[in-house]
Amino acid sequence: MPLDVNPPVVNDLSAFWMPFTANRQFKGAPRLLVAAEGMHYTGHDGRQILDGTAGLWCVNAGHGRTEIVEAIRAMAGQLDYAPAFQMGHPLVFDLANRLVRVMPEGIDHVFFTNSGSEAVETALKIAIAYHKARGEGGRTRLIGRERGYHGVNFGGISVGGIVNNRRFFGGLLSGVDHLPHTHLPEMNAFSRGQPEHGAHLADDLERLVALHGPETIAAVIVEPMAGSTGVLMPPKGYLERLREITAKHGILLIFDEVITAFGRLGSATAAEHFGITPDIITTAKGLNNAAVPMGATFVTGAIYDAFMNGPEHLIELFHGYTYSGHPLACAAGIATQEIYQREGLLIRARDLENTWADAVFALKGLPHVIDLRTMGLIAGIELEPRSDEPGKRAFEVFLKCYEKGVLIRVTGDIIALSPPLIIEPGQIDRLLTTVGEAIREVG
Ligand SMILES: Cc1ncc(COP(=O)(O)O)c(C=O)c1O
Repeated sequence: MPLDVNPPVVNDLSAFWMPFTANRQFKGAPRLLVAAEGMHYTGHDGRQILDGTAGLWCVNAGHGRTEIVEAIRAMAGQLDYAPAFQMGHPLVFDLANRLVRVMPEGIDHVFFTNSGSEAVETALKIAIAYHKARGEGGRTRLIGRERGYHGVNFGGISVGGIVNNRRFFGGLLSGVDHLPHTHLPEMNAFSRGQPEHGAHLADDLERLVALHGPETIAAVIVEPMAGSTGVLMPPKGYLERLREITAKHGILLIFDEVITAFGRLGSATAAEHFGITPDIITTAKGLNNAAVPMGATFVTGAIYDAFMNGPEHLIELFHGYTYSGHPLACAAGIATQEIYQREGLLIRARDLENTWADAVFALKGLPHVIDLRTMGLIAGIELEPRSDEPGKRAFEVFLKCYEKGVLIRVTGDIIALSPPLIIEPGQIDRLLTTVGEAIREVG
């Protein structure tokens, strides 16, 4: 019998331990989504919910795209799985070629994973192994940044800088240091686009280089636009400085573009958007519209070539996942990339950027709104935390918006918005009007 995707309402929510969720609150008042199409989810009560977050910053082409559904269906019927090690299948090579075409010049090889977290682990391991392959095995140190989010695996939380993601999990990786975060609300509050102040914070890398010695440092990893911590745009000149300093000292620069790649800022990558080419780019999410789990780590030809020596029958990189380049994920990826090209979605945020920023900045002056930040189709709306209950105000706004038929995301007391790139101006208006009403009502 085929799986019934519309089972009777589930009335036992106990077994499932939900990720990054207040389990007890949720299970007391569940919010279940049962279907999705275009810009909307359908809730279990039949209500249409406007998606202000592209799922989790990932459904960039909108929900239920027929071409993607058909591609997955066709592939599942033809080749359910092919071993990822010492074997291949045509679609994975096809997808790789299409993806490197939209990467910045010189970033021309890709390693597939199943999530952003795995893309990050892959990038960190490749960075260290790359130096070793070149005879600089002393370069093992990794530098991240305060407030950085690089997924939830041990490498990612070690270089990451979100305190709650680190503090419960022991000693983490050794040999890691952090740059300061770039949030300077006293100077940059209410910036549209890149804030003016903060380029100097990249110079802290020179201090870390002097402290540890450049010959010990493998890579610096940053999100070019820090999403999960609450949407922090890079100050003008900041990424340029990081690129200069890393290049000067032979340190690899990794851009974690799990959120920013595939159109979020109006370009295929943030690297292209800011005109700065790192050595490694990590992606996931929008890569295949989140239809099947997939991540990807992109590297320069120089990095790939450094591994391609020694006897040809030997494995060059001892790393990979059973599901790396899974046929269904690849089918979804190819269909997604075709939609992006055909509909111009990778650059659509450029056309909508002003409409979007105007709608967000209309919230200025509302009670407790202490900062607004926008770029491309992304926004951070920072609320003043209640002194005794940090995070509660924004969570109440989230619940209120859901009640009103709009899905937003909150992190601490910051609302993060990132709708599918197919959003229309009328829907932008509805999204931000609802957020404004909710902020007023919550007080
Ligand atoms: C910048 C960044 N890196 C890594 C990740 C982790 O991705 P995943 O949840 O697919 O493991 C995320 C997820 O939001 C992210 O924003």
